Amino acid sequence: MAILFRFTTIILFSLLSLLCFSLTSSHFIPRFPSSPILPELKQRSHSAQNVPYKTKFFTQILDHFNFNPQSYETFQQRYLINDTYWGGAKKKAPIFVYTGNEGNIEWFTQNTGFMFEKAPHFHALLVFIEHRFYGKSIPFGGNKNVAYSDNTKLGYLSSTQALADYATLIIDLKKNLSATQSPVVVFGGSYGGMLAAWFRIKYPHVAIGALASSAPILQFMGLSSPDIFTSIITQDFRGESENCYKIIKGSWKLIEEVAKKHGGVEVLRKTFRLCNKYIDASALEGWLRSAWIYTAMTDYPTPSNFLNPMPANPVKKMCEAIEMGKNTLGKLYAAANIYYNYSGTETCFDLYDDSDPHDLGGWQWQACTEMIMPVGGSNKESMFPESEWSYEDRVTSCQSFFNVTPRPHWITTEFGGHDIELFLKRSASNIIFFNGLRDPWSGGGVLKNISETLVAIVAKKGAHHVDLRYSTKEDPKWLKDVREQEVKIIASWISQYYQDLQSHD
Ligand SMILES: *[C@@H]1O[C@H](CO)[C@@H](O)[C@H](O)[C@H]1NC(C)=O
Ligand SMILES: *[C@@H]1O[C@H](CO)[C@@H](O)[C@H](O)[C@H]1NC(C)=O
Ligand SMILES: *[C@@H]1O[C@H](CO)[C@@H](O)[C@H](O)[C@H]1NC(C)=O
Ligand SMILES: *[C@@H]1O[C@H](CO)[C@@H](O)[C@H](O)[C@H]1NC(C)=O
Repeated sequence: MAILFRFTTIILFSLLSLLCFSLTSSHFIPRFPSSPILPELKQRSHSAQNVPYKTKFFTQILDHFNFNPQSYETFQQRYLINDTYWGGAKKKAPIFVYTGNEGNIEWFTQNTGFMFEKAPHFHALLVFIEHRFYGKSIPFGGNKNVAYSDNTKLGYLSSTQALADYATLIIDLKKNLSATQSPVVVFGGSYGGMLAAWFRIKYPHVAIGALASSAPILQFMGLSSPDIFTSIITQDFRGESENCYKIIKGSWKLIEEVAKKHGGVEVLRKTFRLCNKYIDASALEGWLRSAWIYTAMTDYPTPSNFLNPMPANPVKKMCEAIEMGKNTLGKLYAAANIYYNYSGTETCFDLYDDSDPHDLGGWQWQACTEMIMPVGGSNKESMFPESEWSYEDRVTSCQSFFNVTPRPHWITTEFGGHDIELFLKRSASNIIFFNGLRDPWSGGGVLKNISETLVAIVAKKGAHHVDLRYSTKEDPKWLKDVREQEVKIIASWISQYYQDLQSHD
């Protein structure tokens, strides 16, 4: 129990510092890509019954990369499967695999309607594999407190181990189904999209292609600017109206000024309807910051409920709220209310809420070891306070949270990234990189075609892996076109595979 307490404190602390992240401090570890932070679906969605898949567990090996005794330990890895549309092994019908992200696999499955909707067309088997150390796929006896207790255990949480898990599971599943000749296509969004792309690059004999949606594989040290993330968010808001941008840009100083005045904190507490008795200005700023960031990420053209319930085009809605509000603080409250209270059910807001309903906490470890993805610096034009991203700060936080030192260049050593066009062109094929340019993570995405079969699909009005979401009647034409193009490309990989198989047999 003592150990558990220690870990909880760490998570809490790092989350709080994310919320408190203001101009001077970049001591935060961004919870990447799809991570919500706050009040967050308190309703633990969907009931256990009535889900469109069966849940299975696979006995997975702890360490794929060495042969010392501990590496032979195993754990139960969860995967979800749906065979309703599968054409079967005899027909060598395809298998679509979602390479799970940093969280509970059920949540990503619910947000990947694309695979369910396209399965009938392809007669595909659907498989969603959970990433080790998340959800129910916990090594060391399935006990999270033990698995997360120290570095000798967390050390097994890495992207390379996760990819090896996926390869091992897929090969075993195909053997069990007598479907060794069924082509596998991998899908993923966000970190899951990075994993899908890397999986195709590293395991071309296991997957014939990958749809990597909103996968910022170039958002690593030395590859893209740490300012680009906040620049894109700024552009999203500024694109709605100059006034909206100015109000937000000016708000940080205003909040600090109000907080300094006698009774000012009480004014802030009341205006923003905060539950907390005691607040500080930097926590409020972090709370607002999160609202702007996550709304930009999920700025979908139709109503959605990914991080929080949201209206269609929420950035636009926020800027409209800002136009209508009375005074500046009232305007900011009205805009934040769209992210935190679109459902209208919140009675007050908790600035220090650290709930983690999607079980994303393990990202802290990944962000302290290999996932050194510089984001969060802000330039002069930014709507966020000017600040510089600092690698040294990351090192300091990671050493104090986990007693671990990052290896900032491991990812590009393992998977590449520098001059990606030059090298991927002849070493890889069959990857779709989708990016929506309203998504701040698109700054680290592959936005140019690399070859005939390494295709970048770029949607100017798109947000974070919008293509993978369930379709709706209100979907705009550009979104329908994107999905149609993806289906065509995937179909071409599959038919190429069958041709190759025929001439091989
Ligand atoms: C597979 O998904 C479809 C579409 O959501 C659903 O109707 C069906 O019941 C699911 N099948 C299984 C075995 O869960
Ligand atoms: C394949 O079958 C074996 C034997 O029943 C089982 O232990 C294993 O978990 C199965 N593999 C997968 C991926 O489900
Ligand atoms: C949330 O929205 C509802 C409905 O608009 C409103 O009555 C309530 O005061 C809001 N909650 C907060 C904390 O602002
Ligand atoms: C890449 O090529 C495809 C056609 O294969 C095209 O539709 C797409 O717009 C191109 N992407 C970019 C970013 O130019």
